This record gives sequence, structure tokens and C-alpha cells, in this order.
Amino acid sequence: MTPKTTRIVTAEPTEFGAVAFETLCNLLGEFDAPVVGLPTGRTPVALYEEMTRRHFDFAAGARLFAIDEYCTSGPHEGTNAAFFGRHLRARVCDQSVIVPRADAIDPEQEIQRFCVALTGVGGFDIAVVGIGDNGHVAFNEPGSAIDSACRVVHLAPSTRAQVAGAWDPPPERGMTVGMAHIMAADQVVLLASGLAKAHILSAALSGPVTERVPASFLQLHPSVTVVSDTLALSRQSQ
Ligand code: GLP
Repeated sequence: MTPKTTRIVTAEPTEFGAVAFETLCNLLGEFDAPVVGLPTGRTPVALYEEMTRRHFDFAAGARLFAIDEYCTSGPHEGTNAAFFGRHLRARVCDQSVIVPRADAIDPEQEIQRFCVALTGVGGFDIAVVGIGDNGHVAFNEPGSAIDSACRVVHLAPSTRAQVAGAWDPPPERGMTVGMAHIMAADQVVLLASGLAKAHILSAALSGPVTERVPASFLQLHPSVTVVSDTLALSRQSQ
């Protein structure tokens, strides 16, 4: 059995972006042309801002993939494609982030097309992920299996509530890489920040491995680096 390594890198809240950046850079250095999965949400913004501040660019041969996207009926500034346009592509790197098309007429076909592109380059070398308030990873909501494939999912109420300010009504469905693709990554980087994540991060890292908390599957991954601020780690020993 492959030995499991979970490293926890702790940052002061004000240093979270810089620490996440250093951690990711160290991992990227292990690959010539890495295939990288990238998250959206509030948490990685500090990382992307640090990339911008440092004028960082990915290696020329790097392939960047979003780990999920909403299903929409048309263009919307709340899509992950729009997020990457604001926070990454336009400001940091020349490479586009490959994102499933949010307003695809046939989302199931679209996420399968995306999945073929991802598996065609060998899957993730590094999957950078966040953690949802309910323990989701990408859009693998509670109930997702550890070997789940890329697919269209119904978003949990708390996931929809998270974007209620930007969408009215929030999307009901999303497209996601499966847990299987995240579990198959050579390296997983789990980002967490803020007190609101303390309970679910504790459950993910120290609780039972269960479909109820998909992030807990990462306990079974051979090489995970958790980058967390002290607030999100504050329940860790309880
Ligand atoms: C969304 C994204 C996830 C992300 C999660 C956490 O649901 N699809 O990939 O990990 O939000 O977001 P936040 O960092 O804003 O808490």
C-alpha cells in the first residue's frame, strides 16, 4: 500500500496567499509541464492575488483546468470561467484555464468532453482544491463516491446559498471533475481559510472517511498538502 503523507502548512491569516503561493511553487517545481486543477471561490483569491503581485506565470507547457463550473443558460459574471478571467488568466498567465462551457446546451456531453481533454493529458499532476462549507470538493457534494466520475450534479442548498448574492436564483446544477480524478492526482493541495471552515476542515482531516464529507476522502490520498490559515485550523485538536 502506498504510504500516505498529509502535510499541514499553517499560515497567519494575512500570510495565507503568500504561503499558499510558496507551497504551490515548490510542488510545481517537481513537474516540467504540469497539469494543474484550479479552484474558484473566495479562498483561492489570496493565492491568485499573490501570483499577480509576484508576476508569476506557469511553465510554458503547463495545462490548467478548472475543477468545476456552474450550469447556466447564458453568459454570467458568476461563472468560474468569468472568475478565472478576473483573477487568473487576464492578470497572471498567458495560458487559458480550460473550463467546461457553463451555458452548453448539453451539460452532460460538455463535461464528458472536458473529461476526455483532462484524461487525454494524463489527468492532474497537481489538483488544487478548496473545501465547501458542507465538505464538498470541486462540486462533489455530500453523497459523492470516492470513485465518482466527471458529471453534472445537483448543487446542495448551502452551495447555492454561497453564490446567492451574485445569482438570482443561483444555478441548480454544476459540472465537476469526479472525486476519482482528484484522488488520482499526484499531488493534492487543499486550501482552507477563515473560522467558518474550522469545523468542516476538522471533520475532513480527522473525522471518519465518509461520503457525507467528500473532503474526508483525501485522508486516503497518498500525498496531500493542506494549506490553511490558523483560523481554519483552530478546531483541529478538538
Ligand atoms: C465552490 C467551488 C469549490 C470551492 C468552494 C469553496 O463551491 N465550486 O471548488 O472549493 O466553493 O468556496 P469558498 O472558498 O468561497 O469557501
